[in-house]
Amino acid sequence: MPDSKLVRRNFLKSSGLTLAGLLGLPTVMAHAEGTKVAVPLAKLEMLKAAGGSVVIKVKSKLVLLIRNTPTSVKAFNPICTHMHCVVAYSAGENKINCPCHGSQFDLDGHVVHGPAPHPLEAYAATLEAERIVVTL
Ligand code: FES
Repeated sequence: MPDSKLVRRNFLKSSGLTLAGLLGLPTVMAHAEGTKVAVPLAKLEMLKAAGGSVVIKVKSKLVLLIRNTPTSVKAFNPICTHMHCVVAYSAGENKINCPCHGSQFDLDGHVVHGPAPHPLEAYAATLEAERIVVTL
């Protein structure tokens, strides 16, 4: 009878799942050149229309991607500067909200409502034909 831990580990390896995937974060195969990472839009259904957003893990960093208009995207480190919760984009408010203590950030990462003491770290991001290029 096979060792159940070994079977589970082999399943995770062969299925391509990672810790990010197990935590509900999309695992995306991205092409990296230096600090630039190209994320294929085909893998991110939630970014195909304006108002969509997703937190992904790229090069061991969490990245919040927001499709704020049909032709542009924003990218941030989604770790709140207050006590390190993961923030989320609200399309209805057009703001980034922290679920832990209510901080809000605008789409430049600036604090609109505390207690967060500092802005979110913003990454340069561009929307190209079939991909998003983020500079980490
Ligand atoms: S951790 Fe974000 S407001 Fe406290």
